[in-house]
Amino acid sequence: MKKAMVALLSGVVAASMLMSTAVFAEGEKVGVSMPTKDLQRWNQDGANMEAELTEAGYEVELQFASNDPATQLNQIKTMIGNGASVLVISAIEGDSLGEALDLAAENEIPVIAYDRLLMSSDAVSYYATFDNYKVGTVQGEYIVEALDLENQDGPFNLEITAGDPGDNNAGYFYQGAMDVLQPYIDAGKLVIPSGQTAFEEVATPQWKTDTAQSRAENILSSFYADGTNVDVWLCSNDSTALGVETALAANYSGTYPVITGQDCDIENTKNMIAGKQSMSVFKDTRTLASQVVKMVGQILSGEEVDVNDTETYDNGVIVVPSYLCDPVFADANNYKELLIDSGYYTEDQLQ
Ligand code: BGC
Repeated sequence: MKKAMVALLSGVVAASMLMSTAVFAEGEKVGVSMPTKDLQRWNQDGANMEAELTEAGYEVELQFASNDPATQLNQIKTMIGNGASVLVISAIEGDSLGEALDLAAENEIPVIAYDRLLMSSDAVSYYATFDNYKVGTVQGEYIVEALDLENQDGPFNLEITAGDPGDNNAGYFYQGAMDVLQPYIDAGKLVIPSGQTAFEEVATPQWKTDTAQSRAENILSSFYADGTNVDVWLCSNDSTALGVETALAANYSGTYPVITGQDCDIENTKNMIAGKQSMSVFKDTRTLASQVVKMVGQILSGEEVDVNDTETYDNGVIVVPSYLCDPVFADANNYKELLIDSGYYTEDQLQ
């Protein structure tokens, strides 16, 4: 065949492929299941996913499950009944959706675990998240720097508030931070007056601010009421940090501690600017949403799906191929560049 003819034909094939992808995408429905509207980030995640999927030509069914696993299960079953071609799920409890995942598998519907891994099932096709272990190491390293633990002997008083035991991420955040801090604990530079260090002791069911607050109040009244300073409070995320900050405001008058967080929620970013929280790990939800929309497109067009980790995320049944985005720290010095210049927030939102 003449070269020109080949070029013409391949052009036609390419054009018709493009058209069929567009037509294909247009007819497809994507079910997006988010855990709750209570925390800022899931509202953002949901909104970003909806906007980007719609823009890419998909029909979207977006649901939030009020932090109730039974509601989430039913919502996902309904999405399957409504003809979803792909499901994107951020689980309230990683272990509680088996029935819906089985139903998805029966209907050959690919499932993407969004931010939180779906556990104990082989019906999970892909996982997209931020590197959860790294979130913890970023927090730990921030503490090492802030207290200059390489050069100072301390001892500095540390307390720990971790996340929800039902969320597979929470253990990674905790472990990432503890792996950085443990050598300093072993060297006696960091001490934990409450003695509460094991994950089960420091966890916060459902990541609830109130729960983190009341545990912090108990710790402050039991171990710090005599004027002992708390130098650093490792908090796995912003909703728990907020509870600790509220507890400190009413129950503590010593030197204000270094406090970590995660998500750069608006309230916490305001607290960072006001000096009431030292840092927060910034996980740009726009980046995660774009990655997942790309994955959806690759799955539906039968292309190879982008992953960058095929070893870490064992859900108890299979190792789920994952795409890990990169988290970075934000603090009072760099928040403008990260959060405002990038268009994540407007200056007004942080007033
Ligand atoms: C997310 C965090 C969030 C936490 C509470 C975790 O699974 O990765 O970004 O702070 O849930 O919603």
